[in-house]
Amino acid sequence: MGVLDGKTAFVTGGTGGIGSAICARFEREGAEVIAADLTDHGGAGTFHHYNVTDEAGIIQTFEGLASRWDKLDILVNAAGIEIEETIENTTLEQWNRIFAINVTGMFLTSKYALPLLRNASGSKGGASVVNFGSYDGFIADPGLAAYCATKGAVHALTRAMACDHGPEGIRVNAICPGYVDTPMLQSFFEGDGSGGSGGNIDSLQKAVRDVHPMRTYGKPEDIANLVNWLASDEARYAAGQLWVIDGGLSAQVQQMKL
Ligand SMILES: NC(=O)c1ccc[n+]([C@@H]2O[C@H](COP(=O)([O-])OP(=O)(O)OC[C@H]3O[C@@H](n4cnc5c(N)ncnc54)[C@H](O)[C@@H]3O)[C@@H](O)[C@H]2O)c1
Repeated sequence: MGVLDGKTAFVTGGTGGIGSAICARFEREGAEVIAADLTDHGGAGTFHHYNVTDEAGIIQTFEGLASRWDKLDILVNAAGIEIEETIENTTLEQWNRIFAINVTGMFLTSKYALPLLRNASGSKGGASVVNFGSYDGFIADPGLAAYCATKGAVHALTRAMACDHGPEGIRVNAICPGYVDTPMLQSFFEGDGSGGSGGNIDSLQKAVRDVHPMRTYGKPEDIANLVNWLASDEARYAAGQLWVIDGGLSAQVQQMKL
């Protein structure tokens, strides 16, 4: 028997690195899962082609879902992109695109999911919405200006949604990961490898590990564990919070290189 038996879940970015680990965990815990994404990678859950920037498509998706499910217990907003630039090198088009996906996409999906989420509010733990923020919403990585700004917006939106919809029995929280080993991080490792480590992937991976007090970066499953708890009835008292999970990265001041 799983902790999500009888629950329904809709996961945007559901075929991405973190999203697919979440879908797999939810399925193992007994939930019926929809992995909503632009591209199907054949992972867990029922794939649904979904674009978080397409309002008409989102309305259609939730109309279709309402004829199939009478309630939605869990919404995970994990779709996201990164742009590795300072503001000087970010075009207005790039700025608008990252906000459209990381912030407006979360607003639109949550807005149209609300009627079904309200139908789940009577369950022991209430309905659960998990938004993806980042430690970059608190402290900045150099050269990620627009991304950091979107994650700060996600954190503020999460608190606002939690206040507005808590009284309706809907818990809203954000997960704020540090480095997680997904295609996003691998492309950083396998890219030009500059990252201060002279192009050697092994030394770059070691450098990333070594900035963490725990001397490791995260796996998608580490993130899925926390999302699973927030989605479960055990988390009935958890709402409106920004859950940092980063191997201690953001607890530590930068070390002097003596
Ligand atoms: N990997 C990390 O180190 C890390 C750290 C902090 C926060 N995050 C956040 O976690 C979330 C998941 O990231 P990930 O590492 O799994 O990245 P990923 O690139 O593996 O997955 C992101 C998914 O979002 C999907 N997506 C992009 N645009 C979309 C759109 N318009 N509509 C629908 N889906 C769309 C992509 O197709 C992809 O499957 C993101 O919000 C990211 O910002 C990741």
